[in-house]
Amino acid sequence: MRHQEGGGRVEGRTFHLETIGCQMNEQDSLRIARVLCEAGCRRATSRNDADILIVNTCCIRQKAEEKVYSLLGRLRAWKGDKADRVLAVGGCVAQNEGKRLQERMPHVDIVFGPHHVSRIHRYLQRYQETGDRVTEVSLVVDSVEDLECPGVSSAPGFRAYTTIMEGCNNFCSYCIVPYVRGRERSRPVASLRREVLSLLSQGVREITLLGQNVNAYRAPDRPEFGFASLLRELGSIPGLDRIRFTTSHPKDLSSELIGCFGELDALCEHVHLPVQSGSDRILTRMNRQYTVQGYRDKIDALRARCPDLAITTDVIVGFPGEKESDFQQTLDLVDAVQFDGIFSFKFSPREGTRAAKWKDSVPEEVKKAELDVLQGRQRKTGFRKNQALEGHILEVLVEGASREGGQWMGRCRTNKVVNFCGEGDLSGRLVWVRIDRGCQNSLTGSLFQTISTGGRAVGDERVP
Ligand code: SAH
Ligand code: SF4
Ligand code: F3S
Repeated sequence: MRHQEGGGRVEGRTFHLETIGCQMNEQDSLRIARVLCEAGCRRATSRNDADILIVNTCCIRQKAEEKVYSLLGRLRAWKGDKADRVLAVGGCVAQNEGKRLQERMPHVDIVFGPHHVSRIHRYLQRYQETGDRVTEVSLVVDSVEDLECPGVSSAPGFRAYTTIMEGCNNFCSYCIVPYVRGRERSRPVASLRREVLSLLSQGVREITLLGQNVNAYRAPDRPEFGFASLLRELGSIPGLDRIRFTTSHPKDLSSELIGCFGELDALCEHVHLPVQSGSDRILTRMNRQYTVQGYRDKIDALRARCPDLAITTDVIVGFPGEKESDFQQTLDLVDAVQFDGIFSFKFSPREGTRAAKWKDSVPEEVKKAELDVLQGRQRKTGFRKNQALEGHILEVLVEGASREGGQWMGRCRTNKVVNFCGEGDLSGRLVWVRIDRGCQNSLTGSLFQTISTGGRAVGDERVP
């Protein structure tokens, strides 16, 4: 009951949460829910039934921020003339805008940054007592212990995330994250173990270790205990069938980590390794601290260690000063690596970052055309890779009924969606599925065999 210390009683009130942004924000929303439930609040069934509405926000690109402001604009009607309703805004827009947000949106009562999640009940209490609007956006207020998130108020399902570190020290020249999330902070191993055990006891079978740059993980009390050590420690907990991680910065991907593939049975054969550009000139301007060759060497080492590894990436097109020849080099890299998936974005200037001071030189229509070319190529590669899996038997963790009527849906170890037919209740089971068809965005197949608990599979392609 740590969260009830020092007042902050908001008993009996109902709350609703709306989350925009990345998995970090989703995790923060889980923690907000836990803090409020521990303070005596109840979850409302919808926005309209709630006394308290919390919007958790993202500002990674202009579009995300516009989405937040447009939602907040619409929420004027939600507050309407109901004087006791409270609107609180958390997350990265809250952090970045602070008081400015309330000036633009006077109906917002509470603004709190990502480092204030564990105190949200106190801010609500203060607001209720005084009627004065609250703005709390200083960085480094929560301690790393406050990041613990053991399952919370709703059942987590079969897959869950665990935040192992927060913040970023890299200052890529385009990126707002270091400004809104602060410096890197890692959680203690004991607290992470506790959280994983708690999730497993609630039925979770797959855990994704989460952080802006998981490779920078350092146990706070043991600086020699890095990410590979943590992966070994958590990945070998009995009952954990699968472990994944995201996101990795290429400069910090160590040979020790590469060695974990094939060594740890639970470690799934997928890495998300954002490259951002295939031009050394642009990578330097982005402050990414690796070269195209350095990146390719790491891909080669990963594939030598684990031939079935799926590799996905992020790419930014239209970076300031980017020429057609730079974009061509990105296409060359994409052709050479043959990624399993690419998340591609048009450069979006973020106030306060270095790149925002440079001329946003690539016209919008060029950015759009480049994005189309890149995505068109990737669609072909993704489709071809999915087709190549036809006839294979893959291990699938079943998440539930598929949207396709009468089928099951799950993911294979390389994180591709698999829809398949099979008798019985397969929810939460590990099964072997024979792939009949590789489609554009998923695989379809039929049940080959269920895998008994404890008898786990090793590789995507290994037939039982
Ligand atoms: N921490 C992760 C990703 C953070 S944001 C990492 O370092 O890889 C997710 C992606 O958003 C980034 O990889 C990048 O491709 C994209 N992104 C970040 N800032 C952006 C900006 N200003 N404009 C366009 N895309 C951006
Ligand atoms: Fe942003 Fe770069 Fe940090 Fe990723 S590594 S969060 S892109 S500054
Ligand atoms: Fe967005 Fe903040 Fe995540 S800016 S991408 S919610 S760290």
